[in-house]
Formats: sequence, C-alpha cells, structure tokens
Amino acid sequence: MSARVLLVGSGGREHAVAWKLSQSPQVGEIFVAPGNAGTAALARNLDIQPTDIDGLVRAAKEHRIDFYLATMDDPQPLGLVDRLQAEGVLCYGPSAAAARIEASKAWAKAFMERHGIPTARGRSFSSFEEAAAWVESLPEQRLWVKASGLAAGKGAVGAANREEAIGILRSMLIERAFGDAGSTVVVEEELSGFETSAHAFCDGKMAVLWPFATDYKRALDGAQGLNTGGMGAYAPTKGVDSGLAGVIKERVIDPVLRGMEEEGHPFVGTLFPGLMVRDGDVKVIEYNARSGDPETQVHMLRLESDLYAVTRAAAEGRLGEVEVRWAAEPAVCVVLVPGGYPGKYETGHPIEGLDRVDPDVFVFHGGTKLVDGQVVTSGGRALTVAARAATVREAREKVYENVRRIHFKDMHYRTDIALEVAAGG
Ligand code: AMP
Ligand code: GLY
Repeated sequence: MSARVLLVGSGGREHAVAWKLSQSPQVGEIFVAPGNAGTAALARNLDIQPTDIDGLVRAAKEHRIDFYLATMDDPQPLGLVDRLQAEGVLCYGPSAAAARIEASKAWAKAFMERHGIPTARGRSFSSFEEAAAWVESLPEQRLWVKASGLAAGKGAVGAANREEAIGILRSMLIERAFGDAGSTVVVEEELSGFETSAHAFCDGKMAVLWPFATDYKRALDGAQGLNTGGMGAYAPTKGVDSGLAGVIKERVIDPVLRGMEEEGHPFVGTLFPGLMVRDGDVKVIEYNARSGDPETQVHMLRLESDLYAVTRAAAEGRLGEVEVRWAAEPAVCVVLVPGGYPGKYETGHPIEGLDRVDPDVFVFHGGTKLVDGQVVTSGGRALTVAARAATVREAREKVYENVRRIHFKDMHYRTDIALEVAAGG
C-alpha cells in the first residue's frame, strides 16, 4: 500500500509532520496545502488556503487522496473532515461538531462544566453590560478575558484588575477588536502554577497520551512581550511524572472522549489541552483539537513509531492495536521570527546559512517561500530549529549554536528557551 496523504497548513508543525510521515514505508505521496519552502522538498505543495474547504475537497479528489491528517485549527470547524469523509477519504481529525471544543471557548467551558472537568471558574457573555456587571460583582483580582472563537492564539488577554478586564471586554464586545471571534467572550479567574501542553492520539473511544511539552508563548525573553503562537518548546516537561500524567489522563482527557461520545460526536484526532499544574492538581486552560506549533516539532523528533500507522489506526477506531513509542532523549526547539512579530513585521528577506546547519539539527520551515531558488521569509514564525540530545542542556546548546549560523534581516528569537531546565541539570 502506498498512501496519498493530505496535510493542511504552512507552519513548522506541518513541515515536521510531513518529515515524519515521509519516513513511513506505507506513505507514497504527501500533499500540503499551501505548505512552504520546507514542505516543498518532501511533499507536493498545493496552492489552496486552509479555509477554502471546496478547494481542498476538489484537490483531494483530483489527487486521489486517501488519508487526511489534521494538524491546524482552521479547516475542521468549517467541516473539512465531514466533507472528506463523505468523499470516502479516511480522516484523522475531528468533525465540525467535535472541533467546537477548540473553536468555541464558550462551548468548551460549558462542556467542561457538564462533564466535571477541572478548569478556571468563569462565565461566557455576548452582552457587554452583563459581562461588566458580573465582573463588578467579583472581588478585586486578576482575570482573563478571551475571545470565544479562533483568534490565531492571540485572543486571550490578561487583566490586572476588574477595571482592566472591563476595558478588554469593551474592546472585544463593542469595538470588535477580534471581529466575530470576539462576539462572545469567556471571562475567568487567573490560575497559577506551571503550564504544560498535553497531547493525545484519540480514536473516538480511547486516547493515548504523548509525553508532555512546554511551550514558551511570549515574544521576548523572561516571558515579556505579547502572547504569540509559541516561540520555542522542549519535551518532556520537567515536573510531570507518570503519576501526574495518570491524573491528567483521568481528569482531563478521558472525560472528553466519554463526553463527546455520549453527546453524539466522538472525538477523533489529536486532543491538545493547555494545562496549569499546581501542587499535583491540574486545571484546563483550553482545549485544542489539533497538535501544537511548536510542540509538534519537538514531539516529531522524539516519536519512534510510524506516525502514519498510528494515526491511521486511530482514524479506523483501533488505536488500541498499535504501540506508540517515544525516544528517551529530550528535544528542544527555538523559533526564529522577524522583529516585530506578533505585531507588524516585514517579509521577503532572504534567509542565509541554512546550508551550514549540522546534519543532526532540524530546521522546520514555517513562514518561508522559494523565490528564484532562494528561501525568503513570508510570514511570522519563519523557522523552527530543533534537536535531540542526551540532556536538555545539550539539546539546547546544539540548537542555539546552529541558530547563530542562520540569518535574515531583523531576525529575532528568544534566548531563554528551556533555560531554567538546563540550568537545573
Ligand atoms: P488560551 O488561548 O486560552 O490558551 O490562553 C493563552 C495563554 O494565556 C495561556 O497559555 C496562558 O499562558 C494564558 N492564560 C489563559 N487563561 C489563563 C488563566 N485563566 N490563568 C492564567 N493564565 C491564563
Ligand atoms: N503552541 C500553542 C499552540 O499551538 O496553540
């Protein structure tokens, strides 16, 4: 068998997944819509946008796609999986109904309540007056205000007090700072502890947890600057042992599988809760219905099993039949962005030094494209540089040494990814 596989997206995550799939003896050709300069080397890029569901379905037929592996958030809530399945394409990814767990934070919050899943206390609102009145009724505290819909990882805003929270509510609900994504908001209490990203392969009935990863979300060193999609990651997260992993599976993963099945829309695909851990206790910050970027880049370096075989088994509802193995070695990745990201930044700058990267260091492309044979920047998170080594400290040194060989105009990266772990041994 020689499968023809479709991926949708153009991030470092999609490059890493395409790279991993390309090692499967069962995979024939990989198509990435729209892809980037990195995926072009392993796969066939299709010039179709992730929200163009008609275009994607047409391309799947034209290229005789037999497997779709969902990695990015946009297409599933628009029904890509439902549409492809109707065409006979096997899909590892959630239906539009199941994808609401990410696409609507208000829906997710209500789902968590229905199923007793631990999360920050909070409420959803569409009316500014009602939201503001509720906030006024709370004791003075730090709060988070979140656009309910998909907002490219930027829709959650922290407020130091009630007055700030009301200002954010006004910008979302009245001034529509996040467009329709912010026409409903969730307001919740601030959680404290350390964050970790859980991921699990899900087949509609059961879940298999991946190791945990830590993502660095802020743009600048020392967790300063704006929230981004993620500036670097390492795995496995220090401080999550097998006992805690068991608690997380039991309290925040398995109830989703059960609840979704009970409510008539089983969850198939990668479930990725963002979690806050404190004193062995865990709370859900949000659920994502796909894998993280840049978490996926470190996970793919550590996954020893055949990604195609595992996700295909999950899509067929027989995840229990496959073994999922991970390397013991940790992995670290650092994301290179144009200065200014996630705000305004320039693109179109040539990237130099890619040919000087060590063979055991991986450069996954995100916002890049080929122009006359030259790789140039074309978006925010341009490259992810990733490596595995015996310790986090060695992996991070290897990554940073290679990052310094790469250059483009105004290139920016955080210098403190996994630093606290490396410093601790
Ligand atoms: P979200 O889009 O909901 O994942 O939020 C993005 C980031 O904002 C999270 O990764 C946290 O760093 C932060 N955050 C969101 N909600 C909370 C909360 N209730 N308490 C503390 N931090 C939060
Ligand atoms: N790195 C976080 C995310 O992909 O949502």
